[in-house]
Amino acid sequence: MAYTFDRFPEYLDRLRAKLRIAVVHGGDKNRDGAVIYKTHNPRSSKTYEKVARDIADSLTNLGFQHVSVMADDMTLPERLRYKGIHLAWLNTGGVQGYDPVCHTPAILEMLGVPYIGHDPLNSSTLDNKHVFKRELQALGIRTAPFMTWHPMQGILNPHTNPRFLTTFKHYRGPFVVKPVSGRASLNIAVVDTLDDLADAVAEIHRLTHNTALIEIYLPGREFCVSVCGYVTSRGGVLRKNSEPFAFSSIERVLETDERIFTSMDRKAITASRLRALASEDEEITGALVALGKQVYWDFGLNALVRIDLRMDEDGNLYVLEANPKPDLRRPKGEETSLVIQGLREYGMGYEDLILSLLVDRLDYLLTYYPQIIQHVVQLLAQS
Ligand SMILES: Nc1ncnc2c1ncn2[C@@H]1O[C@H](COP(=O)(O)OP(=O)(O)OP(=O)(O)O)[C@@H](O)[C@H]1O
Ligand SMILES: [Mg+2]
Repeated sequence: MAYTFDRFPEYLDRLRAKLRIAVVHGGDKNRDGAVIYKTHNPRSSKTYEKVARDIADSLTNLGFQHVSVMADDMTLPERLRYKGIHLAWLNTGGVQGYDPVCHTPAILEMLGVPYIGHDPLNSSTLDNKHVFKRELQALGIRTAPFMTWHPMQGILNPHTNPRFLTTFKHYRGPFVVKPVSGRASLNIAVVDTLDDLADAVAEIHRLTHNTALIEIYLPGREFCVSVCGYVTSRGGVLRKNSEPFAFSSIERVLETDERIFTSMDRKAITASRLRALASEDEEITGALVALGKQVYWDFGLNALVRIDLRMDEDGNLYVLEANPKPDLRRPKGEETSLVIQGLREYGMGYEDLILSLLVDRLDYLLTYYPQIIQHVVQLLAQS
């Protein structure tokens, strides 16, 4: 069968009837039989099960007849096999251990089950802020100067440490100290003086058992932009674009005394905390969209990310991080998400985004790697 994107509506009819999809969320290490030994999750655990159910319900609304939701733990391979799953949708940050975001894609690579989500290397790169930032620097994309610190290096002395002096030069603060791998703006501190840095770094290690990142505090406006692949669905009509789709350019509204955006674990993200960029912000929107596409290309991404950015006092944009598994909850009542909030502008709804992500991944695999997804190719060939 020669695959062509134009035939996707016809393929979709077959896939809706036959494709068995598992939406995978994070497992709970406390459940019997989930892991061999319980250990620590440096990222702060969350199962994201509710959002996995939103995605699964949406796939069902789109007409897929075989959609399951599964937890990601050591029983996952067996359950995937038992249910004959053809394709997994990863909505998981992992269960426990270091670099947890890459565990499930790595297992699926081993099992030969294709998935919607980042490959293991990109999952790890994106979820380790210092690694991502080093690559941004190498690519010439602006990010705040930074260094990392781990207690095995001793106690940080910012007055004498050569790395500190080369990185920050005459800058004396404020700094942001945060975990290299974190989520939901948890455990992030603004440190105003050099002498408070060592304690802040030690506190990150106490809380996360992981390396701390120290960077310059950017006092300006805060933004985010989402970016995914080439295929988009508008009202169910599929289209393959010539560039990645960068959307939902949004300003995160900070209150006067709010130096860092309050965690969504503490305060839900509602429309009042976000501001769609207006026509007077055209230049910023253009810069965000261009940056989004550049990151997608430069890192060879093939799944959704949400890039967080902040301005310095002169209005220059700096990339803070790119989230490998941005929140995809279905908006309900007042609650929304940074990814979904700006979709309407493109004539797209929640289901359109879900279909876009699914078809984009299948289109990528069918175009470049049909030999590694023969079980899906066979579904398309049968009538
Ligand atoms: N260098 C910085 N200067 C100013 N504020 C910062 C800086 N780094 C982080 N922040 C603030 O802390 C918040 C969280 O930081 P970051 O995005 O790096 O971590 P996170 O926990 O992964 O975030 P998220 O809530 O997006 O998952 C940012 O939204 C921003 O408000
Ligand atoms: Mg962030």
